[in-house]
Amino acid sequence: MEQLVVEICAGTSCYLLGSQDLIDALETLPPDKRSKIDLRGITCLKACGHGPNVRIKGVVLSNMTPDRLLQAIEDNL
Ligand code: FES
Repeated sequence: MEQLVVEICAGTSCYLLGSQDLIDALETLPPDKRSKIDLRGITCLKACGHGPNVRIKGVVLSNMTPDRLLQAIEDNL
């Protein structure tokens, strides 16, 4: 089964802007959905002023919130 790679920036700026909340949101997903996600931490996406940033399928999504992240995952699964 191919997983959806979700890269969450764990750099200092994104961390201070709430990247941990995004990781926590992923952990609330039901196991069947969570198992389809390959969660990876990355150090910086060079968009620090617009964090927290996430990259899904090569696209950087800025100013991410937990709700928007869950919607983006839904759209890409
Ligand atoms: S720290 Fe996240 S984009 Fe730089």
